[in-house]
Amino acid sequence: MQMMRYVQTSRELVMKIAYADPPYIGQAARHYDCAEIDHAALIRRLVVEFPDGWALSASSPSLREILPMCPIDVRIAAWAKSFCAFKRGVRPAYAWEPVIFRGGRNSNAPVPEKGGKQITPKDFCVEPITLKKGLVGAKPEKVCRWILDLLNVQCGDTVVDFFPGTGVMSRIAAERQACPETVNGLVATSVSNIK
Ligand SMILES: C[S@@+](CC[C@H](N)C(=O)[O-])C[C@H]1O[C@@H](n2cnc3c(N)ncnc32)[C@H](O)[C@@H]1O
Repeated sequence: MQMMRYVQTSRELVMKIAYADPPYIGQAARHYDCAEIDHAALIRRLVVEFPDGWALSASSPSLREILPMCPIDVRIAAWAKSFCAFKRGVRPAYAWEPVIFRGGRNSNAPVPEKGGKQITPKDFCVEPITLKKGLVGAKPEKVCRWILDLLNVQCGDTVVDFFPGTGVMSRIAAERQACPETVNGLVATSVSNIK
């Protein structure tokens, strides 16, 4: 009986969240020479397996298709690219990317002291795209930190990266005291300093 209470309490302390940065809809073959990702199946998996929270990167034109696949309580944050690729004949340039997110350690947020320090992240981040990372769509470190902040990931949490690419998300999760692990063949990062 006592043991069960202990397990329950521990589960409340830690969160298992996922980040998915798949090839964007319509871009899989061109950028990654791979098949299109089944976004409906991916989102179902995020919802079912990660009730604590998740974030999904996407392109702005795909929002029309992706949002109807999402639960009603998702939020949309924006990565505004202060430097971006300009495509010939495209006006205006596509210069931001949505990050759809759900849950995280965000309920019962404390009220900040009047005139005190900002204690919540903004739902947008301004950062240039990465260059010379050897992978189209590699996310900047600052963007990864901001995504973990959106979900309020802390020490002791687990971060499962579904499409690691350069592995930057795992490295940034590790800054919050993480060690790598594998879950269902996917790269995962577990922050483990629960005392
Ligand atoms: C947008 S990139 C991820 C970039 C990564 N977040 C980063 O910042 O480095 C998408 C990655 O998913 C990989 N990928 C494509 N199809 C996949 C699949 N079915 N399962 C897992 N990864 C896949 C691509 O090769 C590519 O490395």
